[in-house]
Amino acid sequence: MIDVDLSDPDTFVGGIPYAAFQRLRTEAPLYWQAEQNGGRGFWCVTRYDDLMAVSKDPLTFSSAKGGTNIFEVPEEDLSMLRLLMLNMDPPKHNKFRRLVSTGFTNRMVTQLEPHVREICADLIDKVAQKDSFDFVTEIAAELPLLVIAELLGVPMEDRHKVFDWSNSLVGFDDPEYKTSMETGKIASAQMWAYANDLASKRKEHPLDDLVSVLMQAEVDGDRLSEQEFDSFFLLLAVAGNETTRNLISGGMLALIQHPEERARVLADPSLLPTCIEELLRWVSPLIHFRRTATRDVHMHGQTIREGDKVVIFYPSANRDERRFVNPETFDVARTPNDHLAFGIGEHFCLGANLARLEIKLIFEEMLRRLPDLELAGPVRRLRSNFLNGIKGMPVKRARAH
Ligand code: HEM
Repeated sequence: MIDVDLSDPDTFVGGIPYAAFQRLRTEAPLYWQAEQNGGRGFWCVTRYDDLMAVSKDPLTFSSAKGGTNIFEVPEEDLSMLRLLMLNMDPPKHNKFRRLVSTGFTNRMVTQLEPHVREICADLIDKVAQKDSFDFVTEIAAELPLLVIAELLGVPMEDRHKVFDWSNSLVGFDDPEYKTSMETGKIASAQMWAYANDLASKRKEHPLDDLVSVLMQAEVDGDRLSEQEFDSFFLLLAVAGNETTRNLISGGMLALIQHPEERARVLADPSLLPTCIEELLRWVSPLIHFRRTATRDVHMHGQTIREGDKVVIFYPSANRDERRFVNPETFDVARTPNDHLAFGIGEHFCLGANLARLEIKLIFEEMLRRLPDLELAGPVRRLRSNFLNGIKGMPVKRARAH
């Protein structure tokens, strides 16, 4: 009997339950989790190879059938959710992905580099002279917000509106955010309307931003409909903010908690690329996504029935001892490091290159200018089984003693 409730956000409030995941991988690699809140229960997939197999078989493990969240979504809301590419299956997904990929190219990301570098430098300038500051609000939350807003061409004065909506759309398990399904719905409607307005402006007067490129994009003679564009905007704002924010704060915390590893990167900056991949593996900011079985499947001696919920757990796969040598060791020089923090298969993170760019530039700048950050108070974690999140992290320079 493994005493863990992966459906309960409280299980994650003290951190990822790594010991329980380790036991699940060994003793119950396909684990049935009952749900206290009236849900019908779900299968937990915790091993690396299994997460890969599920992600790479979208026809059996559907993202569209019941959406990608554990909670049950009423059918009338599902049709809205399916407008997000995250909740599409092939062949619809492939076509949509090709369309938006025309705007989301490496070139587009590379073009952003000088600007993202400037944003990082400005953020550090603002805190460099302070005795102490909150790392999440001043750095980790700001950077992705500014970058996405820049990418989408959201004017400066509207940026915090988009940020607030995005906050209401996730984290509704956490009482501090005072948000609910209802506030989430309102926020998404507001964001939707905002995107629509921005798109019509760019259609009339194209600028050099992603929105303008997407308005022109064409695959097999098809263009993005207004509704498709609005839903993509909403997905980018959510997917691009919360994940990257939590990687940056969780990553900084990992470096503070492993001073000898931080000293290695400081002494040899050529380790930064492997360090970043290790931060992604170590933090795994997204905890799970859900699929729904479209047919009966046998796995580890059990039968997943058609219609069952199947949930894949990234932080567990990323510490699978079958795949990683000493997975519980934080090693900034780890190679190979084929972590799955960005997922794999059809839905592999569209923003992975952008996220890597942001992470590289902010850690480069922080290690150079704030090499001795340490905690100045307790870390406050998000109450969520979806995001491995940090709400507050007071820090100070060691020299400020
Ligand atoms: C450290 C940061 C990030 C992490 C850990 C992360 C993680 C993930 C994961 C695991 C998926 C796969 C979902 C699935 O299989 O169902 C995904 C998909 C996606 N991500 Fe990210 N992400 C990050 C940053 C970003 C950024 C910066 C953007 C955009 C600006 C972004 C946009 C997307 C989109 C649009 C998808 C859906 C792709 C599809 O359905 O084909 N992500 N991400």
